[in-house]
Amino acid sequence: MNKLIDRFGRVHDYLRISVTDRCNLRCVYCMPAEGMEFEPSENILRYEEIAEVVAAVAKMGVRKLRLTGGEPLVRKEIETLIAMLSGIPGIEDIALTTNAIFLAQKAEALKEAGVTRVNISLDSLKSERFAYITRGGSLKRVMDGLEAALRVGFAPVKLNVVLMQGQNDDEIEDFIRLSLDKPLQIRFIEYMPIGHNDEGWRAKYLSLDTVFEKVKQMGYTYEPAGDIYGNGPADNYRIPGAMGTFGLIHPVSDHFCGNCNRLRLTADGNIKPCLYWDDEWNVRPRIGDEKAIQDMFLRAIDAKPENHEMAQALASEKQSHTPTSRRMSQIGG
Ligand code: 5AD
Ligand code: SF4
Repeated sequence: MNKLIDRFGRVHDYLRISVTDRCNLRCVYCMPAEGMEFEPSENILRYEEIAEVVAAVAKMGVRKLRLTGGEPLVRKEIETLIAMLSGIPGIEDIALTTNAIFLAQKAEALKEAGVTRVNISLDSLKSERFAYITRGGSLKRVMDGLEAALRVGFAPVKLNVVLMQGQNDDEIEDFIRLSLDKPLQIRFIEYMPIGHNDEGWRAKYLSLDTVFEKVKQMGYTYEPAGDIYGNGPADNYRIPGAMGTFGLIHPVSDHFCGNCNRLRLTADGNIKPCLYWDDEWNVRPRIGDEKAIQDMFLRAIDAKPENHEMAQALASEKQSHTPTSRRMSQIGG
């Protein structure tokens, strides 16, 4: 079967699957406080359907999966899906991106079912601020989830920190300190112009150069942390002697599209070759016919754009520039 190679020679071996567009939090940059409309559940792929799609693309060279959402742990018995996916020949790695609210209670079952590693979204280490950003989330539960993740042996455990000017940029030092005595990979992510909160985006966007400045101000030196498994698009650094690392994901100031190896599947069964563009291919009607699923992926990959243009959003006058009508909670980050 044909491999998933696009017009620019990029080989795709990584599928990110949004298993639900629902979430138990309402992060300010991701969802409105109220009135969020979710896909009716009959439009959401069933576990058997997801497994069938994965089995089809595993034959085309997909080896790595990441389950995202929304919040993947709000989907009932997600470990059942994970066990199904880990039994598919060719699948070597199953990761999870979670807000960790349910992680303490789920970590063991997830590990047993075949999750190899987790990324935890955490934008503040101050309880009140965390509750503000997530509109009600409990920092304590996330920290318990984080400890559970380390305890059951997910490796690596990464923290995703969306950096926002005036919201959490005064916590860079605290996050860096967390990398000193815990084996965590802290990943600072540039705030992207995607989601409902378009209007406020530019004022909060902060280029990640700030992180280096802060580290220097703290009096630390840092060195490239080399190749970390599951490195993804982050440039990673280590403060000499630290147990963990910190990394920068800078989709806006410096895109990393040139070595993009990922495809996305939305909760309602749309293949999205790039998170920033609107183009999608609905694979659901093809389920039941492996060849048809594979053909759909070949069509999607063939139309994958060379890069996104988030940087242009910085320069554009109008704020409503995002050429994707999807929210982050539907795309899965
Ligand atoms: N910009 C940057 N990161 C975002 N995320 C959600 N919305 C945005 C945005 N607009 C992050 C979440 C999660 C990851 C999947 O994407 O915090 O960690
Ligand atoms: Fe939920 Fe993640 Fe969106 Fe926050 S960013 S509301 S945790 S899906």
